[in-house]
Amino acid sequence: MAGLTSSTIGRKYAMALSAMFLLIFLIMHLSVNLLSVFGEEGPFNAASYFMGYNPAVQFLMQPILIFAVFFHFIMGFVLEMKNAKARPVKYNVNNGAANSSWVSRNMIISGAVILAFLALHMYDFWFHEMTYKYVPGDGDSTDLVRFWGELHEKFANPIRVGFYVVAFVLLGLHLAHGFQSSFQSVGARHPKYTPVIKAFGKWYSILIPAGFIFIAIFHYVTQ
Ligand code: HEM
Repeated sequence: MAGLTSSTIGRKYAMALSAMFLLIFLIMHLSVNLLSVFGEEGPFNAASYFMGYNPAVQFLMQPILIFAVFFHFIMGFVLEMKNAKARPVKYNVNNGAANSSWVSRNMIISGAVILAFLALHMYDFWFHEMTYKYVPGDGDSTDLVRFWGELHEKFANPIRVGFYVVAFVLLGLHLAHGFQSSFQSVGARHPKYTPVIKAFGKWYSILIPAGFIFIAIFHYVTQ
């Protein structure tokens, strides 16, 4: 691990692996959350109960996920700092779409917005759930059908819905560059497969955030 993070190429590689893990997490997270549109009697409560109480998910997958999230953000900042140091004089010519897209040059900005979103999101759902389960006396932890109601209630607030939607749009921009970039960083370059990866990445970066936006707006309008 130390070897992987001690050179720029190693860092980019490790960054890409954590990104790929998070890309898979987003598909799973969206799939579970989409179940919430089937209402309180639908399968969302059972799925949330499984995710929240299964020991393999709680004590193996969850710590790996938390590590991947922190690793990805810290490494992103480290790489950004190193890049800035390597070019103390800003490129004169690097000021337009001719060289690179705005999104690819500003992954740190979209990343920072996603980080701010995650802080709110953890406050909204995760910390609450942890105190519910592990701190005695805070809520009725035997209520195993509470999940849908809690989620639905969060999206009653239009300001929260607005912030979530803005964050999901920036997530889409982050993914639009990040998806194909992670494949490049692990050396997956091939005349036949690279266009397929790029096309898949484009659809992924549209459909995943659109799915999250749909959920947030769905719960807001069905209050
Ligand atoms: C409308 C969209 C979303 C909804 C309704 C939603 C809902 C939830 C809920 C209910 C939990 C708590 C799970 C638990 O009980 O532990 C959770 C956790 C989490 N969410 Fe989201 N989420 C959304 C979007 C996102 C996005 C876009 C990201 C990433 C960029 C994200 C990242 C996370 C993470 C990292 C956790 C902690 C996972 C864990 O360890 O349990 N979520 N979310």
